[in-house]
Amino acid sequence: MNEIDAQKEILRLRAEIAKHEELYRVHNAPEISDEEFDSLMHTLRTLEKQFPQFYDATSPSVRVGNDLSESFVAVNHLAPMLSLDNVFNVAELEEFDSRLKKVLGVQGELTYCVEPKIDGAGVSAVYENGKLVRLLTRGNGEKGDDITRNAFAIKNLPRKLTGDNIPTLLEIRGEAYMERDEFERIKNQQRQELIEKAIAKKQKEAEKLLNNASNCDTLSDEELAIIEKKLPANPRNLTAGTMKLLDAQTLRNRELKVILYSIGTIEGAEIKHQLDLPKTLKNWGLPSVNWYATATGASQVFEKISELEEIRADFPFNTDGAVIKLDDCTLHEIAGMTSHAPRWATAWKYRAERAQTRLNAITIQVGRTGAITPVAELEPIENLSGTEVRRATLHNESYIAEKDIRIGDTVIVEKAGEIIPAVLGVVLENRPPESIPYAFPTICPECNSPLKKYGEKMLSRCPNMSCPPQVRGRIEHFASRGCMDIRGLGEKIVSELVDKLGVKDPADLYTLTREKLLSLEKFKDKSADNLIESLEKSKSQELWRLIFGLGILEIGEQFAKDLASKFGSLDAIIKADIEDIKSLEGFGSKSTKKRKSDSVENLNQPVRALSVRVFFDDQHNLELIERLRSAGLNFTAEQTNNLNTQFSGKIFVITGTLKSMGRDKAKAIIEKFGGKVASSVTTKTNYLISDGEMNGSKAQTAQKLGTPILSEDDFLQMINQAEQDEDRDSAKGINQAETPQTSEQPQQLSLF
Ligand code: IVH
Repeated sequence: MNEIDAQKEILRLRAEIAKHEELYRVHNAPEISDEEFDSLMHTLRTLEKQFPQFYDATSPSVRVGNDLSESFVAVNHLAPMLSLDNVFNVAELEEFDSRLKKVLGVQGELTYCVEPKIDGAGVSAVYENGKLVRLLTRGNGEKGDDITRNAFAIKNLPRKLTGDNIPTLLEIRGEAYMERDEFERIKNQQRQELIEKAIAKKQKEAEKLLNNASNCDTLSDEELAIIEKKLPANPRNLTAGTMKLLDAQTLRNRELKVILYSIGTIEGAEIKHQLDLPKTLKNWGLPSVNWYATATGASQVFEKISELEEIRADFPFNTDGAVIKLDDCTLHEIAGMTSHAPRWATAWKYRAERAQTRLNAITIQVGRTGAITPVAELEPIENLSGTEVRRATLHNESYIAEKDIRIGDTVIVEKAGEIIPAVLGVVLENRPPESIPYAFPTICPECNSPLKKYGEKMLSRCPNMSCPPQVRGRIEHFASRGCMDIRGLGEKIVSELVDKLGVKDPADLYTLTREKLLSLEKFKDKSADNLIESLEKSKSQELWRLIFGLGILEIGEQFAKDLASKFGSLDAIIKADIEDIKSLEGFGSKSTKKRKSDSVENLNQPVRALSVRVFFDDQHNLELIERLRSAGLNFTAEQTNNLNTQFSGKIFVITGTLKSMGRDKAKAIIEKFGGKVASSVTTKTNYLISDGEMNGSKAQTAQKLGTPILSEDDFLQMINQAEQDEDRDSAKGINQAETPQTSEQPQQLSLF
């Protein structure tokens, strides 16, 4: 694949994955199977590895997913809740081990703890002085939804710790799960209820029509199949849904459990070895893994993984792999982490399982950017590595052609634990004699525009910017929580607005009136008022949200923030020279491969900077921006971000409990003055803020690395100084557009 196609494909995959992630994590209503999802992610990771110039810190392959939903309050985790990288074979396991040895500068073998990877939903519990004070979901890794009120549904999670040496503060992570038996019980109950409802409905309709309901006490196979589709697909989905139930009655009728396996924050006690954790947790009355093993060196790790795989079916809950953790916790901080996962641990995913089934149909999906993806509609495979598989991606036209995949064929579907689902190929012996090669559509199934093909792989794209799924996708993205956060603009409402009120782009949203909304069946007085109010509120959203919402290719949340903070206003970005944009970190010269063709000369420019320029050079986009301006949207960034203070560009880590403020507040202050807060001390850390307790692992690492340690008083003095700088600058009338961020060292503090 050439560079242009790769970039387009990477962007398409990122957008698609983000959409499915939201459907799965936020709405608990996945549209594709886990395998399809994992396969999309696998393809994205492979492409990103092949084309590192398109690295993006906000790519779903990099960041931890997001399960935040509107019904719960999002609360900051004390330490970020990380995910794990995966290994799929011995070579990758050995690579993980040798990379870790290199980072730590260790010659001999490392000792690991090997334990089951529970297939549930991540949770984080906080105990203060032994009392459970909070239970959060993973959320986006930084913040999680506060589900404390539902904690009672996790039957083995104690309210109080027992035993000795109870920590003063404990943030403990684990997996909430549902045992398979409990899952089956609830699924059967739901099936029964749906069947009864459907029969009652059928009888009512028959009575109305024929005055006779006597023949309507059974359902057809088709009707039963519809019900089957409404049932939860696996224990994991049901666990995630149950944790966020608002209805206490339903919640009481379900049993969740938890296994705790990793520490986020601990104060007043210390765990030096991962292998000590299960026992220590049990001593405090906390449920933890009941199978774990010591292994020294990669080959022993593999032996233990194989032992675990032998017995995995005996656990009453689903597992989808093994987790390998470095035993010596004092080395964890030194090993550090990537943007989303620690370097001292990894997950081994179980081998691929394969099954054969019939390919019933091929459907076509059109994405927000017009990308066309063929999807295999399969005769459901009941259980492939623990889940039901109904659909699988067919990637693109050439994949179907190369494998000569035909409707009616028996196809081989592969699913590797969680990852890599794919239609691997066709069982030719079973091919029906009347089958014909699949003819890939040449017109868009949604808008009938002739599809355009691009790249070596001849990927199809719908070129019509007005194609309904593209229009809907762009508006949904603009309104989404991560962008303009316009509440009440879910997928269904957006469809109505597009189909019935002719909304074509984000600016049209601001022409909606209460009366127009009330002309739609879906709106009542209250919901119409709420949407109008949300739209009104969104007009003063921060600038970066607007930039992100515009859907500029390659510009995710972080890059939108960087643009807003460097340029200070949308107009400054519109006018910016490409060289200026390029000077931003991550917008720079990563994609500098020489190209032969003149037509792609521009690609010698940094991709992200170019994408910004291309967007703002487009007349159509400029018109949209003018209409947004007329609607009264905020086009300028807050002014404090670019103040040059002692915090600017510095990385802080906080340890212990500050007397004068909570961690959230300390973090907000540091960020307001241009600093960043990280969870662990590494060579990149500029300051550790400590409550004076020097025995903790963060303080010890800081001492080892020579990181300056600030007392709480030092920190308060720094804030004081930054506030004075702020007052002085605002008195001078300095604004951020005129004061670009500098990477200068802060003035020496008098306290050092
Ligand atoms: S340790 C910083 N241990 O798998 C270490 N995670 O695919 C974080 N998981 O995000 C995790 N069983 O939600 C750990 N025994 C186990 C686990 C486990 C399941 C989940 C966890 C993690 C995900 C990564």
